Amino acid sequence: MHKIAVIPGDGTGPEVVREGLKVLEAVSKTVGFQYQTKIFDLGGGRFLKTGEVFPAEIFEEIKKFEVIYLGAIGHPQVKPGILERGILLKLRFELDKYINLRPVKLYPGVETPLKNKGPQDIDFVVIRENTEGLYVGEGEFINKGTKDEVAIQISRNTYKGVERCIRYAFEYTRKRNKEKKLTLCAKTNVLNYASDLWWRVFQDVAKEYPDVVTDYAHVDATCMWMVKNPETFDVIVTDNMFGDIITDLGAIIQGGLGIAAGGNINPQGISMFEPIGGSAPKYAGKNVINPLAAICALGMLLEHIGEEKASRMIEKAVIEVTSKKLKSLAAGKMGYTTSEVGDLVVNYLNI
Ligand code: IPM
Ligand code: MN
Repeated sequence: MHKIAVIPGDGTGPEVVREGLKVLEAVSKTVGFQYQTKIFDLGGGRFLKTGEVFPAEIFEEIKKFEVIYLGAIGHPQVKPGILERGILLKLRFELDKYINLRPVKLYPGVETPLKNKGPQDIDFVVIRENTEGLYVGEGEFINKGTKDEVAIQISRNTYKGVERCIRYAFEYTRKRNKEKKLTLCAKTNVLNYASDLWWRVFQDVAKEYPDVVTDYAHVDATCMWMVKNPETFDVIVTDNMFGDIITDLGAIIQGGLGIAAGGNINPQGISMFEPIGGSAPKYAGKNVINPLAAICALGMLLEHIGEEKASRMIEKAVIEVTSKKLKSLAAGKMGYTTSEVGDLVVNYLNI
């Protein structure tokens, strides 16, 4: 029996999670596995009503689950940072989900803004370190509020933190078995501490994976290559901040936030899967947002908990929907409502 904690969250989160759960119910019956879900009310709504961001007892309860399915966190009436740090980053950091896994895959029928590029060109995976770097929130203000102010933001990178991420990336590249090529994305020409460590650890770990081809690209060049020649990438490994930035670029070249999904993974603990698009408050409650990203996140979740067959069925059904049905992935322009897209995926599951 799989135990899944569900955090629908803010904005359009609940609508897309609802469709994901619809697909989960259907696929579980077809494949024949059992699961339990529990919905947790966290996000801007709860914070505005009660002042609580993440009550300790809820955090303790969530820790007892096998995996977490998240909709979106972020509310227009809440100051930026409170919910992000108090919920999303807390879950990543305190449950040590040190990998952020973001496949960048253009499905057939999906439009990419890249001219003359198709599904055969856009199919790579970004592995983003998820617990260190600039995200640790360390630093200081000196002379705050004066013209002499200095703001210091620390990027903390530990050998062990970098090593476990790079090792995961080598293992992943080997298992993915596409081109078996792993590209380190950093900024060794400027970041004389952080990128220096990443470079050295990458070289060290690479020795244990002679079957994996290694490559290096500065982060600025990575952005350029992702647009110009995305087919040159197989797997990219990078730090938290660079990974955050390049995966938004990745999301747009794979057709946008309507389809982009990601996993926050603790290989030894509790992982969490989410559509990476955010809460899109202006579309909330209108039944127009695209639920495919949330459905793809569910597919990743199922693969992670050992339900590979269900995961493959979901991906195939999503491809049927993108290639045969949807006019566009954009909210309000799909030619279907949010719930109809969920129904379409369910209908294609058994084909
Ligand atoms: C993401 C998001 C988060 C991040 C925000 C919401 C804190 O942009 O998952 O990429 O920066 O990691
Ligand atoms: Mn981001």
